[in-house]
Amino acid sequence: MKKIKTGIVGAGGMASYHYDGFTRAGAEVIALADMDPNRARAFGEGRDIRAFYQNLTEMLAGSPELDAVSVITPNKFHKPLVIEALEKGKHVYCEKPPALNALEMEEMLKASKKAGKRLMFDFNNRARPESQAMIRYIREGRAGKINSAQASWIRRAGIPGFGGWFTTKALSGGGAMIDLPHMLDLALYFMGYPEPDYILGTAYYDFMDNKAFKGPWGIPDSAKGITDVESACHAFVTFKTGQCLMIRSSWAELNERELVSVTFQGAKAGGKVERLFGIDGIDATGTDRCFLFIEEYGNQANLEIKIEKDESMGRIGNASNFIYSIGGTARALNTPEEALALMRIIDALYESASTKKPVKIGREGGAGTLM
Ligand SMILES: NC(=O)c1ccc[n+]([C@@H]2O[C@H](COP(=O)([O-])OP(=O)(O)OC[C@H]3O[C@@H](n4cnc5c(N)ncnc54)[C@H](O)[C@@H]3O)[C@@H](O)[C@H]2O)c1
Repeated sequence: MKKIKTGIVGAGGMASYHYDGFTRAGAEVIALADMDPNRARAFGEGRDIRAFYQNLTEMLAGSPELDAVSVITPNKFHKPLVIEALEKGKHVYCEKPPALNALEMEEMLKASKKAGKRLMFDFNNRARPESQAMIRYIREGRAGKINSAQASWIRRAGIPGFGGWFTTKALSGGGAMIDLPHMLDLALYFMGYPEPDYILGTAYYDFMDNKAFKGPWGIPDSAKGITDVESACHAFVTFKTGQCLMIRSSWAELNERELVSVTFQGAKAGGKVERLFGIDGIDATGTDRCFLFIEEYGNQANLEIKIEKDESMGRIGNASNFIYSIGGTARALNTPEEALALMRIIDALYESASTKKPVKIGREGGAGTLM
């Protein structure tokens, strides 16, 4: 069978996961574009990449045989790059968050439909072994209807650099909430991506001027740069199905340690998928755990689902799934329609935080409407 040919735009921290995921699924990575030729060259070392470019336009012209493109740039460039590649007839895999806002995501969705090409995002936490184990229990009815869930990505000191693109709203779309959409996405996945109704949210800006809250990852600080995004968001979402969801996302909150989890309460079982990061952020004391909380034969029981450890947090598996989905051997783990629903919730959260009012989610062409 003909190998799928892929090209990567942006040699940032996620590029190695895209590369490994694509190649493990049998695809080739034949081209790489980065506006910084040094970063492109450094990434290419030891990897079998044939062509290097400084931007997507050059890559599409110089390597027309590409079947698919992945986009790993700052968030502001997701929409134009995704649409450019789709319009040239390529399947596209794009980093999270899908775009700066829901309006952009609507344009990307339309472009993928028009091109008839796959558009998939790096919601890598769905591809974690524990998430895949849990969705199977949920789909087979073991949890019953999920009434309520809590989605948390809580960092104690994890601001990804000060003054770089992450902290500049015009380039990132926002702070902790838009940067850490994974648990919101995972909770919605477990709940069946129900149609949202209202949201009431708040945003906080504490510690955004305090270097003691810088994370052990991220990009270098820029003294002349802008820092105008939130360090934490909290919100409550209701759905037309009667379900509800609490969201907590933070880069910096005085919490015991970094906690990444979705918990839920169903009519037959509760459940939890959790990663507790190590004491210093990324270290060996971290744990991944997955439970169903059940009642059986009159007993309350906790069913621990033993899972293989995946240090990549599903990033390699998700990129492989993109290739399999193009080849027709697997269903895509996420869709652009879900990405649009997610972006509408995030837009409405920011709107609610700034107006201090509940917001109706999902008005066509915008975040939501004020009550
Ligand atoms: N899935 C995850 O867990 C995860 C983790 C970290 C970052 N990300 C996402 O990955 C994306 C990139 O983040 P990062 O931390 O790698 O950023 P980064 O700034 O470290 O790297 C981005 C790279 O893209 C290049 N670049 C920027 N604009 C370009 C353009 N128009 N054309 C070609 N090259 C361009 C830069 O030179 C740089 O090498 C973001 O959307 C971020 O949210 C996802």
